[in-house]
Amino acid sequence: MKRTHHCNELRPQNIGQIVTLSGWVHSRRDLGGLIFIDIRDREGRTQTVFDPSDLPNGVFEQAAALRSECVIHVTGKVRQRPAGTNNSKIPTGEIEVGATALEVLNVAEVLPFPVDDPEVSSKVNEELRLKYRYLDLRRPEMARNLRLRSKVATATRFFLDEQGFLDVETPILFKSTPEGAREFLVPNRREPGTFYALPQSPQQFKQILMVAGIERYYQLARCFRDEDQRADRQLEFTQIDIEMSFIEREDIYALIEGLLKRIWKTALNLDLVTPFRRVPFQEAIDRYGIDKPDTRFGIELHDFTEEFRGSTFKVFSGTIANHGVVKAINAKGMAGATQGQMDTMTELAKSFGAKGLAYIKAEGGEWKSPIVKFFNDAEKAALTKKLAIEEGDLILFAADQWLTACEILGKIRLYCADLLKTQGKLKIPADRFDFLWVVDFPLLSFDKEQNRWYSSHHPFTAPVAEDISFLKTEPKKVRGQHYDIVVNGTELGGGSIRIHQPDLQKTVFEDVLQISPEETKLRFGYMLDAFRYGAPPHGGIALGFDRLLAILCGTPSIRDVIAFPKTAKGTCLMTESPTPVSPRQLRDLHLEVKAQKKE
Ligand code: AMO
Ligand code: AMP
Repeated sequence: MKRTHHCNELRPQNIGQIVTLSGWVHSRRDLGGLIFIDIRDREGRTQTVFDPSDLPNGVFEQAAALRSECVIHVTGKVRQRPAGTNNSKIPTGEIEVGATALEVLNVAEVLPFPVDDPEVSSKVNEELRLKYRYLDLRRPEMARNLRLRSKVATATRFFLDEQGFLDVETPILFKSTPEGAREFLVPNRREPGTFYALPQSPQQFKQILMVAGIERYYQLARCFRDEDQRADRQLEFTQIDIEMSFIEREDIYALIEGLLKRIWKTALNLDLVTPFRRVPFQEAIDRYGIDKPDTRFGIELHDFTEEFRGSTFKVFSGTIANHGVVKAINAKGMAGATQGQMDTMTELAKSFGAKGLAYIKAEGGEWKSPIVKFFNDAEKAALTKKLAIEEGDLILFAADQWLTACEILGKIRLYCADLLKTQGKLKIPADRFDFLWVVDFPLLSFDKEQNRWYSSHHPFTAPVAEDISFLKTEPKKVRGQHYDIVVNGTELGGGSIRIHQPDLQKTVFEDVLQISPEETKLRFGYMLDAFRYGAPPHGGIALGFDRLLAILCGTPSIRDVIAFPKTAKGTCLMTESPTPVSPRQLRDLHLEVKAQKKE
C-alpha cells in the first residue's frame, strides 16, 4: 500500500517524516502562488501545500486543476504550520504536508451538492441525498453514523456471545402467515400460484430454535413489513432479535438492561442507571395518554371524573353519566398560545376522535374560557389544586371514554412539549435518556370493525398465569406476559414470555382469535406439532436496531442511520427500484399484471 498514514493521524511528533496520504480532495484554495488542498479519507483530513519550487514540472498545474472530490495520493514532508495558522477544529491542525509528488487516481465531475460544508449539506433536499447516496455517505456526519452502527453491532455481538448466546441465521424466504403488518410475497416459479413471504420477524423460527434445544439465540435480523413509512419505520429494518429458554420476564429485563448499559458506554461513554423503571400499561395511559411515555417532562394527565360528576357543564357530566371520564393537563406557560395553535390542537384532538377541546387560559389574573361560567367554586378549587394552576398556564380537557380521552390528551401533551421546546421554555439535555419498561399489557385488544379480539403483541404471547381462566369468558381481563422497552417516548423494542403448551396455543388461535382449525393447521400446524415434542418454557424480545442507532446519533429519522434506506413511498432513489420486469420474467413466475386503471 502506498498510503503511509491515514488523514487523521499526523501530529507534531511526525514533523520531518516523508509520508503518503490517499483520499479525496476535500477543499482547495489558491493563495498567491501556493495551493492548499485538504485531503480527506474515512478517518479525517490533513492540509497539504503545493509550492511550485518543491515540485517536479507540471505537478503544480495538475494540483491547480483538481476539483473537489478527485481521488489522489499526495507524498510530502510533514512540517509545522506557520505561526498563527493552526486549525484547532481538526486533530491534524498543527501540521501540514509540504507536497513533493501528486498522483491523480481519478477525477470527479462537479458534484450535485457539496459534501465539505456541514452548514450547506445539512440543508440539501433529502431526495437528492438519497439519489446520490454514495456522496451523501462521504459527509462526515453520515460516515460517523455508519461507523457507530458498526461499533454498536460489534458490542452487541460481544455482549451476547459472553452471555452464551448463539448467532443463528433464519430464512428470508419464509411462509405467508398473515397477522400483523402486510407481507412481501415472493412468487414461486416451481409451483404456479404459490408464494414465499419475507419474514416480518424471525419470531416463529426463534421459538422453534428453543424447541430444538439452542437455549439462547440471537441474530441481527433483517425484517420486512409492507407498512406505511414514517421517520421511524422502513419496509426493511434490522432487529437485535433474542430468545431464551427456562426464563421469566425478570431475566429478559436484566439481560436487556445489561446490553443497553454496554451499548451506551461503548457508543456515548455514558453510564446508564439500572434497573429501569417499570410502568404498567394502565398507568402509562392514565398519566401520559400513550403506551410509550416520554417521561423527560411533566404535563401529566389528571382525572376529574369525580369532581365533575354533577357539573352543570353537560359535556362533562353527560360523558361521565355515559361511563366516560374527564381528564385534563396543565400546559405550563402556554396561556399565550395563538388562535392558530389553539385551532391546531383542536384539530389534532378531533383527528383522534375528540368532540372538542375545552380549555382555560390563566391570563391577566383571571380564567379566560368559554366554559368557566359553568364551574362552581368547589370545581374551580379542585382544578387549581390538582393542576397547580398559576398565571400563564393553559388547561386542556378531554371528556370521553377512558382510553380515548387519555389518548387525545397524550397527543396534545406531546404537541405542547414540542411547542414549549421550540419556544425555549422546555429544555431537555441531549444526554438525558429516560428508559422504562411498560408491562402488564392486556393480552388482547378488541377490533370493533371486525367484531373480534386480536393479539396486542402477537398470538404467541403467554397470558399471565392467574388470568388464563378468563381467556374464554372475559378476554378483556387477561394480562399478557408482554413488555416493551421505551426510551424518551420511542418504542425501542418489545417481547414476551411465550406460550409453550400446544393446547393453550391452540385455544388462543381457535377459541380466542377465532382462526378456524383448518386455517390454524395450515398456518401454524408445524409450531403446534413442534410444541408436542418437548418445548421448554421460553421467551424473548427484539430491539429495533435502526431506532436504537437513531437515538444514539441524535437524529429523528432512521434513514440517517441506514446506508441505503427507502423513501416514504418505498422507493430506492439511487437504484430506482422497484421497477417493472420483462414479460418473460412474469411468464416464468406464472404472473400476469392487470392493466392499471387511469387515475
Ligand atoms: P415488534 O413487532 O414489536 O416485535 O418489533 C420489535 C421492534 O422492532 C422495531 N420495528 C421497526 N423498526 C423500523 N421499521 C419498522 N417498520 C419497524 N417495525 C418494528 C421497533 C419494535 O419495537 N417478534 C417480535 C419480538 C418478540 O416478541 O420477541 C417483534 O417483531 O423498535
Ligand atoms: P359546546 O358546549 O359543545 O360548545 O362546547 C364547549 C367547549 O367544550 C368547546 O370549547 C368544545 O371544544 C369543548 N368540548 C366539547 N366536547 C368536548 C369533549 N368531549 N371533551 C373536551 N372538550 C369538549
